[in-house]
Amino acid sequence: MTAALLNRADAGPALVPVDIGHDIYAALADPNTAFWALVDKSRIAESLADGPLLDAYRAKADSFARELQALRFELKPSGVYLNPTERCNLDCTYCYLPGAQRSGGSHMPAATLIASLGRLRDYFRSVMPEGRKPRAIFHGAEPLMNKAAVFAAIDEFADDFIFGLQTNGTLLDHAAVDFLTARKVSIGLSLDGPIAGISDATRRTWSGKSVHAKVLSAMEKLKGYGSWSVITTCTTENLPHLTQMVELFHAQEVPTCMLNTVRCTLPGARGVKPADGDMASALFAAMDRSHELYRESGRKLVVANFANILIAILAPTARRLMCDISPCGGGRAFFALAADGGLYPCSEFIGLPRFRGGNLLEEGGVEAALASAAFQTVTKRDVDTFSPCGECAIRHFCGSPCPAEAHEMNGGMEKTGAFCEFYREQVNYALRLVADGKADDYLWDGWDEDTETVFDLAM
Ligand SMILES: C[S@@+](CC[C@H](N)C(=O)[O-])C[C@H]1O[C@@H](n2cnc3c(N)ncnc32)[C@H](O)[C@@H]1O
Repeated sequence: MTAALLNRADAGPALVPVDIGHDIYAALADPNTAFWALVDKSRIAESLADGPLLDAYRAKADSFARELQALRFELKPSGVYLNPTERCNLDCTYCYLPGAQRSGGSHMPAATLIASLGRLRDYFRSVMPEGRKPRAIFHGAEPLMNKAAVFAAIDEFADDFIFGLQTNGTLLDHAAVDFLTARKVSIGLSLDGPIAGISDATRRTWSGKSVHAKVLSAMEKLKGYGSWSVITTCTTENLPHLTQMVELFHAQEVPTCMLNTVRCTLPGARGVKPADGDMASALFAAMDRSHELYRESGRKLVVANFANILIAILAPTARRLMCDISPCGGGRAFFALAADGGLYPCSEFIGLPRFRGGNLLEEGGVEAALASAAFQTVTKRDVDTFSPCGECAIRHFCGSPCPAEAHEMNGGMEKTGAFCEFYREQVNYALRLVADGKADDYLWDGWDEDTETVFDLAM
């Protein structure tokens, strides 16, 4: 047997074989703690018998279990998604923010935004270690529609937060780029197609106009900046073009992109939901192409949502995104502030009033929201406790996203979300890359610098 990489464990020797679709390797996993090992698939029985693998696994079991417990149940919030306005100048088919708010909603007044960030700063100071700054991401609906307030807040709280801004790019002129880049604000754009005809199928103005060229122009302005990214939301409309998407991003020197599955929380998104198998084959083809481009050019285009799955497998505590763990990060690692001051576990819930946990500027603020029934419904969603996740070997690399989607589309928190089969295949694909020794090629350089190797055994 050759290399077996191990990094999780549990006190009970409950390893189960997982067919990852590799020619040589299968995985052995302990579903309870996300411990896994790659073994020669023709020798699974020997690997499961008492021997070096099980001995090593048992020796580390307690520390793996503690680590997973801390990650799943003991985090304090360290980030906030800010909605400085309800309005957006686009009407994307699948948007999780309600159309009435995006078309006719209100801006948060600058003074309220400043007061809100003051409250948030005080809250984060009370829970975060000294010297660590919380992340504050201006995220919705279109933050640059309330640019004056956003920029005033960034200046006022420059020392208190690490700021990011997610924008559709249509209002990102040179002055805005200069302002944001001078202050090291990370900038996310959104683009759904390699050409206008594809982008326009899902992302256009209220009067139906294309914004594709404007986003390309924004990308041009950001070339060379270290901290920017582009989100593509994967739907039936652009799935056949994901490989060209990756080629465009690589050519434009995009450092990081996301190829996100469309979240089917609201009905509009369900009309463009791809089938799981189509999503898997299109994403894997795009990932394969990103790898070829890296090999040819020496320059990586990191696909962050996929990189996060790899990191969840290789070093769970180094995860950067918290959608692929259960309970998810919503309402416990981060939360969202709506433009009317409402607090929600995640932006995904802003269209769902029953998930409003209170108002930031009213008595109780963040603490009251975290303790509210609205938040607890989300933070207590635990894949160990419902079917089919409770029996799934990869549930702690998947997390059964997303609670908002499960609740709205499938009828409850104890349901899976929209892409169960896809997530399973994605973990198998990731494990095949690990088996082939290619995983690092898909990750940010230095991703593991602060990460301890908890378990590493060659057999
Ligand atoms: C809600 S927008 C807000 C920021 C800004 N207006 C923009 O377009 O980037 C943030 C990101 O969420 C994505 N998004 C919106 N609805 C979604 C859904 N149902 N599923 C997945 N992503 C979605 C958008 O495409 C965009 O990339």
